[in-house]
Amino acid sequence: MSYRNDSDSVELGECTRNPGYKDADGDGPAARDNISVSDSEEKRDSIGVKRLSDARDEYTQIKPYAGMPKEVLVLYSSKARYRVPREILFWLTVCCTLALVAVTIAVIALSPKCLSWWQASPVYQIYPRSFKDSDGDGVGDLKGIREKLDHFEYLNIKSIWISPFYRSPMKDFGYDVEDFRDIDPLFGTMKDFEDLLAAMHSKGLKLIMDFIPNHTSDLHRWFNLSRTRDPHYEDYYVWTDCKPDGPKPNNWVSIFGNSSWTYDEVRGQCYLHQFLKEQPDLNFRNPDVIKEMIDIIHFWLEKGVDGFRMDAVKHMLEAPHMRDEPQVDPNKPPELVTTEWDLHSDYTTSQVGLHDILREFRAQMDIYSQEPGRYRFMVTESYDYEEVYKTMMYYGSRLEKEGDFPFNFYLLDLPHNTSGVWAKHLVHLWMGNMPKGKWPNWVVGNHDRTRISSSAGRLYVRAINMLLLTLPGTATTYYGEEIGMENINVLKNNHASRDPQRSPLQWNADTNAGFNEKTNLTWLPLHPDYETVNVEAQMKDDGSVLAQYRFLNTLRQSELPLNRGWFCYVHADANVFSYIRELDGLKRAFLIVVNFGKESAVTDLSSVRELPDELKVLMSTTIANDGKVFPKSRIQTEVGEGLVIQYSTNTRFNPNHPEECYISEKACYLETIDILYKC
Ligand code: GLC
Ligand code: MG
Repeated sequence: MSYRNDSDSVELGECTRNPGYKDADGDGPAARDNISVSDSEEKRDSIGVKRLSDARDEYTQIKPYAGMPKEVLVLYSSKARYRVPREILFWLTVCCTLALVAVTIAVIALSPKCLSWWQASPVYQIYPRSFKDSDGDGVGDLKGIREKLDHFEYLNIKSIWISPFYRSPMKDFGYDVEDFRDIDPLFGTMKDFEDLLAAMHSKGLKLIMDFIPNHTSDLHRWFNLSRTRDPHYEDYYVWTDCKPDGPKPNNWVSIFGNSSWTYDEVRGQCYLHQFLKEQPDLNFRNPDVIKEMIDIIHFWLEKGVDGFRMDAVKHMLEAPHMRDEPQVDPNKPPELVTTEWDLHSDYTTSQVGLHDILREFRAQMDIYSQEPGRYRFMVTESYDYEEVYKTMMYYGSRLEKEGDFPFNFYLLDLPHNTSGVWAKHLVHLWMGNMPKGKWPNWVVGNHDRTRISSSAGRLYVRAINMLLLTLPGTATTYYGEEIGMENINVLKNNHASRDPQRSPLQWNADTNAGFNEKTNLTWLPLHPDYETVNVEAQMKDDGSVLAQYRFLNTLRQSELPLNRGWFCYVHADANVFSYIRELDGLKRAFLIVVNFGKESAVTDLSSVRELPDELKVLMSTTIANDGKVFPKSRIQTEVGEGLVIQYSTNTRFNPNHPEECYISEKACYLETIDILYKC
């Protein structure tokens, strides 16, 4: 081919023989012959250059074809029948691209945030001494936990909080830490921990560790260096002058009772301990202490842990003036002021500056939260019984993040007054005070508190689990509550003992309930009911506490109204507490009716016009009532019975009752294309 375009001249050469060309009559080859090289040569001017205008004239005869020379192309491309479609196509492409960009931006802007792992699943608390003993010494351990990971798959639980397993003299069973970077031999080795974490991650489970910043064990290296006044460690703890047998520095009391000051003979001063005397409080007014704790956070995050439950954080700072705290009863003789309930803990909890430290912890965790799916979760134990607004401060502010939530312990008080009104009151303490947009959470048991079956009675266990799993937010379940375990009857040897609620998990009806299959040792006695109340037996029984827990948890995770929809109060009386879970745009909604009272009840919800007239029970805690249909004017429940009613509606409850309804992040559902969007 000899086409040149570096001058006006054109040589068609081989192009004239383009086999792709066909003229309208189909006589292409003949036409091609007409424009032979010699013909075109005749049209050259004196210096042998062919003029473009001439060429145009000549090419009008040629039909466009693939591989045509520029002149032919230019000639045809400027004709309306080619130009117009081309321009239309061009602008169409531009418009489509812009539309695509706009749609993408809109979808991103309109999509509500996906639930993070700590929102989507309940948190299950393992007390490691009591979960599963792999080596037969009578105390549960890390390998034991690893053996039992299938339990979480069965329950559909993804987030596991393990109470402390650091090296510890075990005065407070691990809450007295001797080395924050080591595992206690009782629980295993660092390798066992790494293996457990890897096994959990491979099953999609998340591991939340206990982190104990307020204090260490008195056997911790730092305490030893502090009491001997090593210059670097001298101020790692809270020291003040006092005499060996003289008065205490002030009236502050330990959570476990009596003065929170103990004289140390080595240093000749008193040190502060808000818990046991073997748990000296760290001095968080010393920046080196904050740095030490941050290094420990990094250490475990580097290992891959998914979050921390931060222990007793409200006690981390004390007022430097160390004045006496005001007595609750000013007339009580000071020598009788011995418990935390005797004092307003104005100078020993929630001090100014505390939130800055916690926000710094959170910021450090955020550094490790950048990769998708690797968010590191932070929950604080920061419950303020008297002043709920103080507890809410641990949520952080709009501008500064703190814990993802502070534990909500209000439902632990449910057994004190089982009634529908009381249940609503406790739920509302949280919902009515939680900062807008935050995520609620609920705890109905832990290693410090009497088990539900023992405090409320067996009768209410299922109802309380139903409440826990149908309220909005993250549920926390203490090991054994999924089968309704009870406290054991052991004598408490001291005030701080919480042994009754820490007995071994009842896996099956074998010796030691399957907790220890090797020897006959268990660190605490088993509950005698283990032959009937155990995981294995309840797995086989559709009506068991375990089966119902599993059903509700699975339902919650698969139903949008339950996992991220509105929560609306509908009714509360001496017996029944009832609420709706619904999502704008979705016809399917849920009505929950739970009888926490002392009598069976017939509830009339006929005034709730958003409900259909007939209501069908999807699940009752009394299995025989599954599928029952009630008119909405007569919903029957027995004592301790809870109902999940699924219904279909076009009228949502929340728009008409905004003051009765809560949602963390509003989302609507578009049924036609099955998507959620911000609304
Ligand atoms: C927390 C723990 C409790 C422990 C205390 C001191 O309250 O839940 O078990 O004794 O802190 O660490
Ligand atoms: Mg063991």
